[in-house]
Amino acid sequence: MSAAATAYAPVHAASIADPETFWLDAAKALDWERAPSRAFDPQAGVYGRWFPDARLNACFNAVDRHVERGHGEQAAILYDSPVTGTKRRISFAELREEVATLAAVLAGFGVGRGDRVVIYMPMVPEALFGMLACARLGAIHSVVFGGFAANELALRIEDARPKAVLAASCGVEPTRVVPYKPLLDAALARSSYKPDACLVLQRPQAKAELVEGRDHDWEEAVAAAKAEGRRADPVAVAATDPLYILYTSGTTGKPKGVVRDTGGYCVALTWSMANLYDVKPGEVYFCASDIGWVVGHSYIVYAPLLHGCTTVLYEGKPVGTPDAGAFWRVASEYGVCTLFTAPTALRAIKKEDPRAEKLDGYDLSGFRALFLAGERADPDSVAWAEKALGKPVIDHWWQTETGWAIAGNPLGIERLPVKYGSTAVPMPGYDLHVLDEAGKPVPDGTMGTIALKLPLPPSCLPTLWGSDERMRASYLQTFAGYYDTSDAGIRDADGYVTVLGRTDDIINVAGHRLSTGGMEAVLAAHPDVAECAVIGIRDLVKGEAPCGFVVLKSGVTKEPGDIERELVARVRDEIGPVAAFKLALTVGRLPKTRSGKILRATMKAIADGQSYTMPPTIEDPTVLEEIGESLKTRGVGA
Ligand code: COA
Ligand code: AMP
Repeated sequence: MSAAATAYAPVHAASIADPETFWLDAAKALDWERAPSRAFDPQAGVYGRWFPDARLNACFNAVDRHVERGHGEQAAILYDSPVTGTKRRISFAELREEVATLAAVLAGFGVGRGDRVVIYMPMVPEALFGMLACARLGAIHSVVFGGFAANELALRIEDARPKAVLAASCGVEPTRVVPYKPLLDAALARSSYKPDACLVLQRPQAKAELVEGRDHDWEEAVAAAKAEGRRADPVAVAATDPLYILYTSGTTGKPKGVVRDTGGYCVALTWSMANLYDVKPGEVYFCASDIGWVVGHSYIVYAPLLHGCTTVLYEGKPVGTPDAGAFWRVASEYGVCTLFTAPTALRAIKKEDPRAEKLDGYDLSGFRALFLAGERADPDSVAWAEKALGKPVIDHWWQTETGWAIAGNPLGIERLPVKYGSTAVPMPGYDLHVLDEAGKPVPDGTMGTIALKLPLPPSCLPTLWGSDERMRASYLQTFAGYYDTSDAGIRDADGYVTVLGRTDDIINVAGHRLSTGGMEAVLAAHPDVAECAVIGIRDLVKGEAPCGFVVLKSGVTKEPGDIERELVARVRDEIGPVAAFKLALTVGRLPKTRSGKILRATMKAIADGQSYTMPPTIEDPTVLEEIGESLKTRGVGA
């Protein structure tokens, strides 16, 4: 460990040597109905459970207690929507009112502790009310990102089996209105499981048709509950009760339902606000993600509110709404101290405003740090932002599975030197090791798979929804006694971690995690496709973009160009626009090993214009030339 890490090192060491004391101490920041007498039960669950005898309510901790302590008038949510031209300030007292009323509406649909509620909504305050209303009742929410299509929504509904669905009539993208309700209707038609009720927020940009008996108008239902004085109080639940399920791409087409338990999550997030982000209660925190992703769950909704901060809810893009100064406008208008976004957003801003001229005129005197996560932060963008902002730019590494950073630079404890390309050091409770294929630790500076010695710290997934077996098979079987992150990386002599990329078929497109296997399944289902491979190729703004190679069945007479267009449309329809699948290439053959394994890594190297060694087991090296040629015809590759 670097000599600079004098304050951080003992904190991390204490969390590993005596997790009981460390996390029981961190737990004091919350209000418990029954405080934990112990932090961890190693016998419970798949690898143990956090705070096994404690009880609390997440919504009470995020909302009510701030009102009870005299902060009712403080802004809880600052909604800023350049795409609709709307702004709204919601105080903690108003938030409590909205959430308690909506919870009463949900209770009226029969939603109670342990029931699931799917939320398919854009970045509007009502979506946050919905999440918190579920938490208030002890119900389990499952938010589905608006950029997913009906089929993906249907898969999640089938798996979560929600009692109710909360939806909005539409989302608003800079260039178009996206009607959500027809997608919900299509998903429900596909799903064999049907919820009892759907509560639909009618937005003026596109009104939805409501299905008699099943669908309810949000505004009317809430107004009726208010008129009747119906409000629901927070229900204390076991700390081990799930707060939410968040689906993420797995290596098959079936998404994984990551379960987040209530107590551990609230404890870890609250700890992170002070110690990682260095933010105090009452300050304004701006996380420019989407509530459909884990980063949005944790740092738009729960962490800032649990910590008594004001959260900015921004319905817009980093560029184009209206320009590359959007984030700086929001930061100065609301006195933001910390901004958290994805490197892809920074690259988009840098591309449009390379000299950072859009910063001119904005008062960022209260701004202290920019945090980046979701994909590797490229050194160029980090250096650009450091220069433009004159403030620390901190890369930190995350997964949906962990719910908070695995590694980062703990500004609240000690500002460690930034090393470009590295996500700095492990956060408390993460006993991080870099292993070779046989599970042996590799020397510092050597690449391997990053694995976390069990137990995982609070907030990390205790299991996958409905399947302890899939949890074990997906994460715990590669290396006995460890969680396999499926990220490859290096640790240096100072203990800094550099994450290099996934070891599985997951790709990262504009900070969105996508499975190439899922896209291959869509391509393979086309009647004219014999075989296919999807890889992530380098993209200057999005980091990676998917590219599909298809071999057509013999005897197909249709124009390849027509089939390619159909394939692009199919992925958009089946997975959603978020897949950003725009490039399908018809090729004569796919490069394979003699045992028939498709050489995806070599194809990616060719597409990215990188050098590669000819795989010794390749069946026919000339196929690689054909792949290179076909990429060149589309302007991709060296
Ligand atoms: N509802 C419906 N459609 C959506 C959507 C939503 N919530 N979010 C995105 N889409 C659509 C977009 O309109 C786009 O459609 P198009 O193919 O018709 O243009 C498509 O999905 C791809 O979206 P995206 O990858 O976001 O690309 P973009 O060109 O719209 O924007 C960036 C590019 C870089 C500005 C944007 O991706 C961004 O801000 N990324 C940050 C990501 C992030 O915060 N990730 C969370 C991890 S921290
Ligand atoms: P998600 O589950 O969508 O948050 O995606 C998690 C994956 O994104 C990780 O497994 C990494 O591959 C990648 N990732 C997230 N943050 C970083 C980062 N700071 N540096 C490198 N990769 C990252």
